[in-house]
Amino acid sequence: MFSRFITKHQRSLLGRLLSENFKSQAPWYGISILAMIVVAAMTSASAWIMRDIVNASVVSKDIDQVFMVAAGVAIIFAIKGIATYVQSVFLSKAGNNIIARTQSKLFKHVLKQGVAFHSKYPSSELLMRITNNAQAARAVIDLIVTSFVRDLLSLIGLVAVMIIQQPLLSLMAAVIGPCAIWGVRILTKKVRKIMEQELASLGMIIQNVQETATGIKVVKAFGLEPFMQQRMDKYVGDVETRSNSIARLEAASSPVMETLSGFAIAGVVAISGIWVLQQGNTPGELMSFITALLLAYEPAKRLARMRVSLESGIIGVRMMYELLDHPVDLAEDVDATDLPDGPGEVRFTNVDFSYTSGHKLFNGLNISFPAGKTTALIGASGGGKSTIINLIMRLYDPEGGSISIDGADIRKAKFKSLRSRMAYVGQDTFLFSGSVKYNIGLGREGASDDEIIAAAKAANAHDFIVRLPNGYDTSVGENGANLSGGQKQRITVARAMLRNADILILDEATSALDSESEALIQQALTRLTRGKTTIIIAHRLSTVSSADNIIVMEEGRVVQQGTQTELLSTEGAFRRLYELQLLPAAQSLS
Ligand SMILES: Nc1ncnc2c1ncn2[C@@H]1O[C@H](COP(=O)(O)OP(=O)(O)O)[C@@H](O)[C@H]1O
Ligand SMILES: [Mg+2]
Repeated sequence: MFSRFITKHQRSLLGRLLSENFKSQAPWYGISILAMIVVAAMTSASAWIMRDIVNASVVSKDIDQVFMVAAGVAIIFAIKGIATYVQSVFLSKAGNNIIARTQSKLFKHVLKQGVAFHSKYPSSELLMRITNNAQAARAVIDLIVTSFVRDLLSLIGLVAVMIIQQPLLSLMAAVIGPCAIWGVRILTKKVRKIMEQELASLGMIIQNVQETATGIKVVKAFGLEPFMQQRMDKYVGDVETRSNSIARLEAASSPVMETLSGFAIAGVVAISGIWVLQQGNTPGELMSFITALLLAYEPAKRLARMRVSLESGIIGVRMMYELLDHPVDLAEDVDATDLPDGPGEVRFTNVDFSYTSGHKLFNGLNISFPAGKTTALIGASGGGKSTIINLIMRLYDPEGGSISIDGADIRKAKFKSLRSRMAYVGQDTFLFSGSVKYNIGLGREGASDDEIIAAAKAANAHDFIVRLPNGYDTSVGENGANLSGGQKQRITVARAMLRNADILILDEATSALDSESEALIQQALTRLTRGKTTIIIAHRLSTVSSADNIIVMEEGRVVQQGTQTELLSTEGAFRRLYELQLLPAAQSLS
């Protein structure tokens, strides 16, 4: 019967959902299912006992029998009550555990993904998938278990009571049931489509709130409040309209069922009146039959509507598996090893790379970053400087050629070993919610307080940190909202200091700062880079003047390299940049 209700794809989704989750929760589902069997049995028993209630009080008029029957009724309902309690407590226990495990699993998978994945799924969508879809997974399992165990068994029990008490009348009821189910099927198709649209709008609502919160300064400065509100009103309105459509469709299954059931019950009652009079059946038997018929109505209705309710849940489950099955584009090699110990020389050999197919950014790029030396990358923006760093950190893989550290290809290295060799300070400082100490401590696992303070001192951050309201324990606010740009940057430099890695990567680390902060950070960076393989990107040439080697990049190619003195002595890109940047300043001073 089940197979006719759902598509093949949905069936395989459900099969997977159940097999992945049911086993881990087997004891809880076991208890819950046992309780459901008891509930179903007691429901049938309560219909059965109607015969004795009626016959004892109307037919035999035996007061002892009446008391016996009354006690029976009390016991049946007490047991049903307890079983219902057990059933729902254990069903929730299993369900809540499924939500927790699913959310962890989804998040783990998201963490494994490379940077490219995150440009495909915006954070708002991940948020919705991780919270909402895990709930859907639970709801679907709950629905299947309650429908197929409690409702189906109740229905079977009640039908049995009906057949035993009044076999011929039961035949009549059997004809009408399937008609109602057919009516409901038409509705389910419509629900599916609307549900998908509703989830999409829900994602837009989250995105809008998120963007407003992160970009609140831009929103205020440009007076974008009415615009943001307008966008919100539209998304909220969309969800409202769709929710109403779904509610209407779901409710539409009720009139169909009610009307048909009304006819069935009326017909049965009319015929049974004649029956009792002519066949000499007891009124108790008839009463028991009618009770069973009325009690069967609710579980039958839920079973018929299950398809509609399942539809909305399955969409969440499908989206969940879509995310879980998204291949990890940058996986660790199966036989990855630790990088060999070494001084930290980085080399690009014939590297080909493109972000989007068709447009090649690097074509056979060869660059080396000698161990223990400082190499500067300069050139107009868009030249590929940050991309070189992305490749060294293995946020992307090259399409051709190789990148090696101390002679070992980084694609063969364990991520942990690769990343432990480097420290990175970028232009966009990022702080996690938590204290200053926590944010610096993230640089190296298990760093002591003394080491954290030493790193902060070396980063010229200690002095301002101790003046904060709670010193090192001051909360930085969301992405460091409570700190200035220069302070945030010094914390990220302290984080990198603490890491004590032998390859240092600085991508425009001081570009966004005022000259006082820059001087403080420059001082700290000089300390940080001593004796380390340093790769520094800067657009202020003054920052890189002391580099051991300066590489000038243009459109993914190396156009010049050498020390500052060497580069200044020849006509070329560096001289042009130098004149553009430094000469006007020198002239205005004189
Ligand atoms: N994540 C990305 N997806 C697609 N294209 C990108 C991405 N990042 C950078 N690019 C493109 O690659 C080129 C090089 O960018 P980038 O390495 O950031 O340059 P630079 O750091 O020298 O300013 C630019 O044309 C840029 O538009
Ligand atoms: Mg850049």
